[in-house]
Amino acid sequence: MNYENILLDLHNRILRITINRESKLNALNKFTLAELHFALSDAFQNPEVGGIIITGAGSKAFVAGADISEFAELNADEGRIFAQEGHHKVFDMIHASEKPIIAAVNGFALGGGLELAMACHLRIASENARLGLPEVTLGLIPGYGGTQRLTQLVGRGRALDMILTADMITAAQALAMGLVNQVVEQENLLAAAEDKMSKILSRAPLAVGAAINAVNASLTDGINGFEEEINQFARCFDTADFKEGVAAFLEKRPANFEGK
Ligand code: COA
Repeated sequence: MNYENILLDLHNRILRITINRESKLNALNKFTLAELHFALSDAFQNPEVGGIIITGAGSKAFVAGADISEFAELNADEGRIFAQEGHHKVFDMIHASEKPIIAAVNGFALGGGLELAMACHLRIASENARLGLPEVTLGLIPGYGGTQRLTQLVGRGRALDMILTADMITAAQALAMGLVNQVVEQENLLAAAEDKMSKILSRAPLAVGAAINAVNASLTDGINGFEEEINQFARCFDTADFKEGVAAFLEKRPANFEGK
């Protein structure tokens, strides 16, 4: 597929996906979401991809939201489809990925932009980042998982404060409330995200995937997270990486994991 709205760069087993609509502050239009879907599907199948970093082009915005011009005319039925497609084809895919996904938040992360970052497993922000869910200023509410994922990450009181006031918060405030994992100077953002990802990729890949599944189970209705943890824990024992990890520890050498 030829991509026009995103850039892809694969090195050291890390796929960087850059949302590339800088003149529109990287707002997510339907073509960008479709390209994200295909790029993620490909990355999940590609054994050369160990993990994914998602960022925005330029120094001003990560993603300033869903593209407002595209949903301005929708009615309720169309709005439902708009949200459902986004959930299923992009945001839920990221959330459930067994390959780790880090958001490198390089500026405004608003509305669908913050929802994109929250679907990722970790968030690293530059000092200039501004985060918010401004949908009520448009007569809407967040529709790409924001009401759920923000509440899960920061608690009901803080989530309602951000959603009802529509206020943006700084990177430092986001760090203090646990909405982002780390804040760095803007010029160090991608290096920090790659450092974090490299560390994760040095761990046993199937165990990393199992850990994501188990943690996600704590947030999934109808699944007993403790049971799922037992299932995922058990699954690890049948992997070559488990044998290698234990052997390396006993032999006092670094482990050489193959994701098998
Ligand atoms: N959808 C579509 N276009 C958007 C956009 C969005 N979510 N966010 C920014 N843009 C576009 C602007 O329309 C403008 O395009 P133009 O140059 O063709 O007029 C361009 O990006 C630059 O944005 P601008 O508003 O001029 O930049 P700014 O520095 O003055 O303000 C923001 C930056 C982020 C505060 C402002 O763009 C904004 O509030 N964006 C909308 C955020 C939002 O409500 N997101 C949630 C959507 S559900």
